[in-house]
Amino acid sequence: MTISFIDLAAQQRRIKPQIDAAIARVLAHGAYVMGPEVKQFETQLAAFAGIKHAVSCANGTEALALPLMAWGIGPGDAVFCPSFTFAATGEVIPWLGASPVFVDILPETYNIDPDRLRAAILAIRNDGKLTPRAIIAVDLFGQPADYPAIAAIAKEFGLKLIADSAQGFGCTLDGKHPGAWADVVTTSFFPAKPLGCYGDGGAVLTDDDWLAERIDSLRVHGKAVASDLEGATFEHDPKYLNMRVGINSRLDTIQAAILIEKLKIFADELEKRDAIAARYAAGLKGSVAQTPTVIDGGTSVWAQYTIEHANRDGLAAHLKLLGVPTAAYYPMPMHAQDCYSIYPRPGGLPVSEAKAKTVLALPMHPYLDIETQAKIIDGVRSFNG
Ligand SMILES: Cc1ncc(COP(=O)(O)O)c(C=O)c1O
Repeated sequence: MTISFIDLAAQQRRIKPQIDAAIARVLAHGAYVMGPEVKQFETQLAAFAGIKHAVSCANGTEALALPLMAWGIGPGDAVFCPSFTFAATGEVIPWLGASPVFVDILPETYNIDPDRLRAAILAIRNDGKLTPRAIIAVDLFGQPADYPAIAAIAKEFGLKLIADSAQGFGCTLDGKHPGAWADVVTTSFFPAKPLGCYGDGGAVLTDDDWLAERIDSLRVHGKAVASDLEGATFEHDPKYLNMRVGINSRLDTIQAAILIEKLKIFADELEKRDAIAARYAAGLKGSVAQTPTVIDGGTSVWAQYTIEHANRDGLAAHLKLLGVPTAAYYPMPMHAQDCYSIYPRPGGLPVSEAKAKTVLALPMHPYLDIETQAKIIDGVRSFNG
């Protein structure tokens, strides 16, 4: 028996006829770019997250860049984010000429530490070289960051707040999605994500009418949108008016059609993931240094099930011999990579550095059966390193 780290084939078997039919419909109507399924999916996605607007785009990385572009963030500006995250979170900031400022995480949840965030903002403000403009909090491994605390800090300093929910789309805190606190929620539909498509895709979600319209413009080369055209007359087709410098970041119609089918089973899949996480927690108790802790009042979508072990690499090698795949997310925080080492990290990042050495993600997907999971748990328990 081979154990999958993430079993996309099992999910496909469950809804294959619906997926095939959805793809066939797109092939039949032929509107491959910005076809009707794109708007339909955006409406359904916004409803799922309890947010007014969802604007889809080409991937979760550009979903982060688009609001920064819309807000005019650029050279001389500081954007605060964790270092213990996937590189995309911080990568988009220098794209715009701005500077990431790396902030340490909480040891239990791996999400940005509000106290360290506040201290970092004060340090950057006192230093006077950069202007604090925005915060990107990450819902790492699937659980929400401490949004009430982070949103209060954003308000105190007049900063924009992005929830990078590429791994956490569908998570809640006190029954609410991150959009209840953040100006913008972004997500990724990369195939391995809890809500993934069959290629690249992403979305930006917001309650802000102005921002949604601006991002709709920016994702299609800065095209003219309704507010640009109000009261204006044109000698030529306004389709070719470029009101601002944009990019090409659209979700393919075929991917939207696939996501419509996947969204129908998403809530059920989240329940399954939760049950699997509970089985891991019970089975692994006492055998590893740490099993995941979810923030009080929070739910996780369990993009990853991350445990900790002092001999992480030894445990990974032991599991590999038993046929259990694992992954270390992330073995190197962003600031430890050469190309990001130049950016500020006031107060240092001791927790991020320590966690990079001990974290190990176990197989996690909604179709992990009890027998296979028992084998994984036994494998971890049998490690004597
Ligand atoms: C935390 C985080 N942010 C952003 C991204 C970027 O998403 P994408 O790969 O769709 O560009 C990812 C995933 O890959 C991610 O895990």
